[in-house]
Amino acid sequence: MIPVLVTLATGLSLAYAVLAPSPVLEARASSSAITAAPQLSSAIATFEAEVATLAAAGLALEAILLDIVPPSASDSIPAAVSRAASAYSAHPTDFYQEIASLVFNGVVPGDIALIEAGFIVENSNTNILNPLPKSNIYPKSSTDAPYDVPELTLRAAMYIPPGFTYGAKQPVLLVPGTGGYAGEQFATNCGLLTFATYCRLTVFPVAKLFANSPNADPVFLNLPDNALDDIQVYAEYVAYGINYLNSITGKKVATYGWSQAAVTVRWATKYWPSTRSASSVSIQISPDYHGSIVELALCPVPGGSCAPSVLQQAYNATFIATLRNNGGDSPYIPLTSIYSAFDDVVQPQVSGPGASGFSNDGHGVGVTNVFLQDVCGFILPGGAPQNTHEGVLYNALALALANDTLTTGKNANLAHVNTASLCEKFAPDGLSLADVAVTISNIVISGINIADAPNKSSTEPPIKAYAMKDIPSGFSG
Ligand SMILES: *[C@@H]1O[C@H](CO)[C@@H](O)[C@H](O)[C@H]1NC(C)=O
Ligand SMILES: *[C@@H]1O[C@H](CO)[C@@H](O)[C@H](O)[C@H]1NC(C)=O
Ligand SMILES: *[C@@H]1O[C@H](CO)[C@@H](O)[C@H](O)[C@H]1NC(C)=O
Repeated sequence: MIPVLVTLATGLSLAYAVLAPSPVLEARASSSAITAAPQLSSAIATFEAEVATLAAAGLALEAILLDIVPPSASDSIPAAVSRAASAYSAHPTDFYQEIASLVFNGVVPGDIALIEAGFIVENSNTNILNPLPKSNIYPKSSTDAPYDVPELTLRAAMYIPPGFTYGAKQPVLLVPGTGGYAGEQFATNCGLLTFATYCRLTVFPVAKLFANSPNADPVFLNLPDNALDDIQVYAEYVAYGINYLNSITGKKVATYGWSQAAVTVRWATKYWPSTRSASSVSIQISPDYHGSIVELALCPVPGGSCAPSVLQQAYNATFIATLRNNGGDSPYIPLTSIYSAFDDVVQPQVSGPGASGFSNDGHGVGVTNVFLQDVCGFILPGGAPQNTHEGVLYNALALALANDTLTTGKNANLAHVNTASLCEKFAPDGLSLADVAVTISNIVISGINIADAPNKSSTEPPIKAYAMKDIPSGFSG
């Protein structure tokens, strides 16, 4: 795998060279090479049948991925995204077959542990030396929900990169999606955004994206257990994180998230009202404000046990119903929401209010809902099948709209960007093939971590006391 990795991610190879081989390499030694599609398909089918009961399902999946003998790596971004699109088109409703095909097609290296190791710094959630807030924010207001997580734990989950300006630039809290940490999910694809410098500087001191525009300063919020436990608990981290960054910078805080981040930020701003005046804007990529009708594909055994946060994001989950009830179907801070028809994890994603990514604007704060295919159609790179759940993370239109949101401090205005030219791009200017490949690898990382979730359950965590008033009739808390 190493040569493929180096080709895909030349910039990363230096960092990898010093790392010890991952433990899964040992599991691999006893198994056999996978060189044909039917072989892979049957290995994954066996994995799917056993995932709910395997003690170390993630390791089993990693071992399969390591056995894959891929074709030579793509040598351009258009070639790589076209291979990603074929993995999606071949398995649009079978999540694990699709992510294995990303490796089989040579889009993503099989040694996922090595990729994760490259983000060990940004993924940290034990940052106990983060400075104290300038005033008491735990709690900030008597109208906020109570915190259960200790303040030091909440504060330590934020990785503040060296070079953070403490208010000279717009602070941005990066909130992860299901199955991973903010470091690995954003450290490469956010390169095109203004915050490129700090996204990459810590791991790759000579990163190409050295000089960038001045309007965003990122902080990585690394939720424990890969964001796979109770989302209500993760909302405490977001609420504290917004008020904390507001306190240490004196600036209103932007949030930028993928997937589950959308409902985590919505829950935090609904039940911790003090976060609203401390916030500027929110940008959400592939959000699921109405959960997903296909999310159980992530838990392949029907009725079997699965990660709590995945169960909470079912279309009819009590968590989602409670969130949406009494005003939570609308944001409490200005929102830019961007989603795609080819989302393999969140559905429905369609034009208009039926999309899970769609928000109403009941609180009049300003909402821009962008269904990519409304703007780019279904053929151009900006709207074609590579725009999966993770594909939107490197979509050029999405990132230009994110930049517009951060620049203006308001929900995005499509008239501010050149949609015709952005729809033609396979990725934003400034992202490399390695950036795109590592961004795509996050869906594989999520799959492994979901399979390995430590606290699998067959029922959602109970709704917290402060939110029980919002459980709609017909749902049980
Ligand atoms: C959600 O619940 C409604 C009402 O019970 C039902 O009609 C619908 O099929 C459910 N949808 C899913 C995706 O479970
Ligand atoms: C971000 O927006 C600013 C202001 O419109 C613009 O000058 C800059 O080129 C944009 N950057 C990107 C990466 O789109
Ligand atoms: C699992 O759930 C328990 C009990 O709710 C909790 O204390 C723990 O932090 C969770 N995570 C892990 C990895 O055990």
